Amino acid sequence: MNILSVASEVFPLIKTGGLADVAGALPLALAPLGIAMRTILPGYPSVLAQLKDAHKIADLPDLLGAPASILKARHAGLDLYVIDCATFYDRPGGPYAGPDGRDHDDNWRRFAALAKAASEIANGADPSWRPDIVHAHDWQAALTPVYLKYSPAGATTPSMLTIHNIAFQGQFAPTVFGGLQLPPEAFAVDGIEYYGDVGFLKGGCRTAWQLTTVSPTYAEELLDPQFGMGLEGLIAERVSELAGIVNGIDDKIWDPENDALIAAPFNAGNLKRRGENRKALVKAFGLEDNGGPLFCVISRLTWQKGIDMIARAADFIAAHGGMLAVLGNGDPGLEYSLTSAAERHPGRISVRIGYDEPLSHLMQAGADAILIPSRFEPCGLTQLYGLRYGCIPVVARTGGLNDTIIDANGAALAAKAATGVQFSPVNAHGFMQALRRTFRLFADQKTWLQIQKAAMKSDVTWAASATQYSSHYQKLLARVP
Ligand code: ADP
Ligand code: GLC
Repeated sequence: MNILSVASEVFPLIKTGGLADVAGALPLALAPLGIAMRTILPGYPSVLAQLKDAHKIADLPDLLGAPASILKARHAGLDLYVIDCATFYDRPGGPYAGPDGRDHDDNWRRFAALAKAASEIANGADPSWRPDIVHAHDWQAALTPVYLKYSPAGATTPSMLTIHNIAFQGQFAPTVFGGLQLPPEAFAVDGIEYYGDVGFLKGGCRTAWQLTTVSPTYAEELLDPQFGMGLEGLIAERVSELAGIVNGIDDKIWDPENDALIAAPFNAGNLKRRGENRKALVKAFGLEDNGGPLFCVISRLTWQKGIDMIARAADFIAAHGGMLAVLGNGDPGLEYSLTSAAERHPGRISVRIGYDEPLSHLMQAGADAILIPSRFEPCGLTQLYGLRYGCIPVVARTGGLNDTIIDANGAALAAKAATGVQFSPVNAHGFMQALRRTFRLFADQKTWLQIQKAAMKSDVTWAASATQYSSHYQKLLARVP
C-alpha cells in the first residue's frame, strides 16, 4: 500500500514541535506492516541544504502563481518529496514566521501550495509512484482533501486528516479565496467557507474521508466547545469517522541505553547511573544540587502548556527544597515570569530560553520529574520521553496526558502500576497539590524507584498505533468506488 503523508515539518529535517516527531516516525513504524509512506514537505532553505541526492521529478510552472518543482530525495530512512519554490519558501526564519517571530502574511498561500502539490502527486505528477491514500496533518496540509475533492481525477483518492492541535486552524480573510485556484463552489459550507472566512482546517474536516486525532481522550474532548474551538459541531457530525490514535515515539532516537546526547547511558536495571546525567544537567543549568527533586520543563512557553502555572509554582518548588530547570521559548510575558523566578532563586531555578534538542535529551535523562500542566494536550510527547527515561511525568489530566500516564494513587501504587502523577481540575491549585504529592513520593525513594521502573516499562513505541493506522487505511481502501 502506498501512502502520501503531507506535513509542514518532519523530524530530523525541520521541527518546531511534536508534529515533526510524528511525521518523521510514522513512516518508519508503518514500513514493517508493508506500508510505503512517502512524505511531501516544503523546501525551506534548511531542508534543501540537508538533502544529498535530491533530483527533480516534476515541474509545477504555476503552483498558486509561482514557479515550482518537486524534488525526490531520501533522508534518514524517509522517502521525501520536497517542494522547491523560492517564492514561497526561500526566506529566513522558521517554517511559519520570519526572524522577528511574526507569521508570514502569505502563509495561506505557502501552505495551500503544499496541499496543492500533494494533490498533484496524488493525481500522477510522479509517473513512477502514485499513492493509494493521502494522509494530511494539521491545518497547513488540510487543503489536500479539498483540492482532491475538486479535481476530477482526485475525487476517488481516499484521504485522512489528522488533527494534532485544533487551536491552530488556518483561518484567513475571504479575499484569499481567489488565490487558491479552487472552483467557486468550494467557498461553501460543505467546502472551506468558515463563518464568512476561509478555513483550512475546517475545509479538511469537511472533506477528508477519515478524521483522526492523536489520542482517544482528545477525540472526546473535540466534541466539547471548551476544546473544539468552534469546530465541535462539524466534528460531532462526523464523529463516526473520527478516531483517536495515541502517538508513539521513535525508540531509536529516544533510547536511554543508546543515547549519544546524554552523559551516561542507563536502563531500568541500573538507574543509579542517572546520577551522572543529573550532575551534568545541574552543571549545564548552573544549579546547586541539594539532593531534592530536580524538576524539568521542556516546552513551548504558551498558555496551552500552562506555563503560567509553572511560573507560579517556582517559589513553592524552591521553598520545599526542589530544583527546576526550564528549557523553552514562546510568549515573551511567560518567558519574563520564568526568568524573574530564576532571578529570585539562583541555584534553585534556572531557565534556558531557546530551542535545544540535545539538551532536551540530557534533561529527560537527568531530571527526576517533568512538569506538564497543559490546559489541553492533544497527545503530548515529552511525557512519553519522560516515561522512557524514568523522568516521572507530573501532568494535567487532559488529552493524551490522560491516556498515557497512570496516576500514582493508592490502588495503582499497590498494583505497582503507577507511572506518574496526574491532576485535575487543571488549575494552579490542582497543580500545587500534585507537586506536594510528588515531593512526598520522592521522599520515599523505594516507591519512587518503583514508579520509575513501571514508567520505563510502559509501551511508548509506535507498534500498537501503527497497527491502528494500518487498519484505518485498509478500511479507506475498501471504500474506494
Ligand atoms: P507540541 O507539539 O504541542 O509543542 P509535544 O509534546 O507533542 O508538544 O512535542 C513537543 C516536541 O518539541 C518534543 O519533542 C519536545 O521535546 C520538543 N521541544 C519543545 N520545546 C523544546 C525546546 N525548547 N528545546 C528542545 N526541544 C523542545
Ligand atoms: C500537537 C499537540 C501535541 C501533540 C503533537 C503531535 O503539537 O499540541 O499534543 O503531541 O501535536 O501529535
